[in-house]
Amino acid sequence: MASTIPLDTKTLKVSPVHPPKITSVKPLAESTGLSSLPSIYTFTHNLHDEPISDDPEDSIPIIDVSLLVSGSPEEQSQVIYQLTKACSDWGCFMVINHGVPESLTKAMIEVFQEFCNLPEEEKQEFHGNHVMDPIRCGTGFNPSTDKVNLWRDHLKFYTYPEFHSPNKPVGFSEIALELSKRNREVAIVILKAISKSLGLEESYIDKASNFKLGLQIVAANFYPACPEPERAIGIPPHSDHGLLTLLVDNGISGLQIKHKGKWINVNLLPNALFAHIGDHLEILSNGKYKGVLHQALANDKATRISIAMPHGPSLDTVIRPAPEFVDNESHPPKYIEITYKEYVEFLLSGKICSKFRLDFEESKAIYAS
Ligand code: OGA
Ligand code: NI
Repeated sequence: MASTIPLDTKTLKVSPVHPPKITSVKPLAESTGLSSLPSIYTFTHNLHDEPISDDPEDSIPIIDVSLLVSGSPEEQSQVIYQLTKACSDWGCFMVINHGVPESLTKAMIEVFQEFCNLPEEEKQEFHGNHVMDPIRCGTGFNPSTDKVNLWRDHLKFYTYPEFHSPNKPVGFSEIALELSKRNREVAIVILKAISKSLGLEESYIDKASNFKLGLQIVAANFYPACPEPERAIGIPPHSDHGLLTLLVDNGISGLQIKHKGKWINVNLLPNALFAHIGDHLEILSNGKYKGVLHQALANDKATRISIAMPHGPSLDTVIRPAPEFVDNESHPPKYIEITYKEYVEFLLSGKICSKFRLDFEESKAIYAS
């Protein structure tokens, strides 16, 4: 019921005529006496999708990326084989020994927390009007089309090919720049190895996606503790656009991936990166590797923070299945051709269409306008 929302916070301006424009869930989560979830946050979970967690058969593959750089030829081929299995069976894996200092990741999480703590007026300049604005903060994917409010706040900014970043709080942009650079180096090594794992030359993905001008985003998520987590959702099921996302969090669980029809908790190993395949690698491989479906749950114990870093093609690239995976008789192309920019715009504007996104049935029901 709308009347259960506190009307006195600066972010939740309610006028009798227009529905409230909610830009942040944080003040609501922190308001005293909030014991139940306001109905605008109620998300219907699919009760048939029970998570599983303890089955050793269902543990997410681990890839030691240092072996790709300095391992023997045998070790390198073994990791490429592991990648083929991980990408085709799972669409995701944990990355260890990647060389990004833990202190840098922690600094990013801390400075993002400070960003979230800024007064709402100070964040206002980043609310953005267009889905492609290079710096945007807010709450849902797109508050004008979302049917359910999400239990998370986010800040997204483009860090490559041009670096954009909020200039506050102090130190934010320096930390973000360093983390983005280090993260990109890891992505480049992994994408080369993924090219090989597909039986392609190692620079295939780089060339096909014009990666030198490829879009890199930092998508920071803030999930405050929630009074009724089972009735809310942090981020509903989706796959990421782009080629590969590398994600870290503050050690609080909440991320799940769908594997063989079941949800699996992703509990990151210490200082590991969680790598998952995006839609454009699915397209490039004509469906051999799948953009993995994932979601973020709310919890009632502690604030969860995650920093997801998607790496994509350049915005004007039309990604299409590599000819190696297409023959017009038994393996016709499964995807329509569209530039990366158009794809991202469609996605972020809520006009999700099953022609573009094959595994998107669950979220479509929420976001279709
Ligand atoms: C995302 C995402 C998951 C998480 O930002 O696209 O899926 O764990 N985040 O926050
Ligand atoms: Ni995601």
